[in-house]
Amino acid sequence: MKKTINSKWVIGLFSMVFPALSGVFVSQASAAPVGIVPYMANCSSCHQPKGQGSSNLAPKLSNRIGKIATFEDGRRYMLSVVFNGMAGRVVVDNMPFLGVMTPLGSLKDEDIAGALNYIMSLQNMPQIKPFTAAEVKAARALPKKSAPQMTIERQKLIAAHGPF
Ligand code: HEC
Repeated sequence: MKKTINSKWVIGLFSMVFPALSGVFVSQASAAPVGIVPYMANCSSCHQPKGQGSSNLAPKLSNRIGKIATFEDGRRYMLSVVFNGMAGRVVVDNMPFLGVMTPLGSLKDEDIAGALNYIMSLQNMPQIKPFTAAEVKAARALPKKSAPQMTIERQKLIAAHGPF
C-alpha cells in the first residue's frame, strides 16, 4: 500500500516539473493511475495534483468526494459541476471557499470520465463504479444550470446523504 502511494507521488511530482513529458512517462508506466493525464492537464492547477485542494483556490476532492460517487444523484452532481462550473460559497472540512470553477464541457467525454476516475482513485473505495464515457455523454445532453441552481443541487445532496 505504501509503495503505491509513493509511486503516485513520484508521478505527481514529475508531472509538475515536466508537464510536457509526463504524458509519455505516464503512458509507459504500467502502474499509472487511470485518468491521471486529463486530471493533471485540466483539474490539478486548482484542485492540486493529489486532489488535496488549496486554500482560497479550490476545495479538496480526495478522500471526500468518493462518498457521493456511490449515489446516482451524487454522480449526476459531479458531472454537472464539470459541465456547468460552480461559483459561490462552499464549506469543506470547516473551511469556507468562495471560488469559481469554469465549466469544462469542452473536454472529451473520455477525458472527463478519466479525470473523475483519477479523483476516485485517490481514496480507498473499490466499490465505486468508474465513470464511463457513455455516462458523461448522457450528462452532456442535460439542460445547463446556473450557479444558484448548482448551489441548491449541492445542498440537496447534503440533505439526502449528509455532509461530504
Ligand atoms: C479554475 C480552477 C478549477 C479548475 C481548473 C477545476 N476546478 Fe473543480 N472546483 C473549483 C472551485 C473553486 C470549486 C468550488 C466552487 C465554489 O466555491 O462554489 C470546485 C468544485 C469542484 C467539485 C465539487 C466539489 C464539492 O465539494 O461540491 C468537483 C467535483 C470538481 N470541482 C471537479 C473538478 C474536475 C474533475 C476538474 C477537471 C476536469 C476541475 N474540478 C477543475 C475550481 C476548479
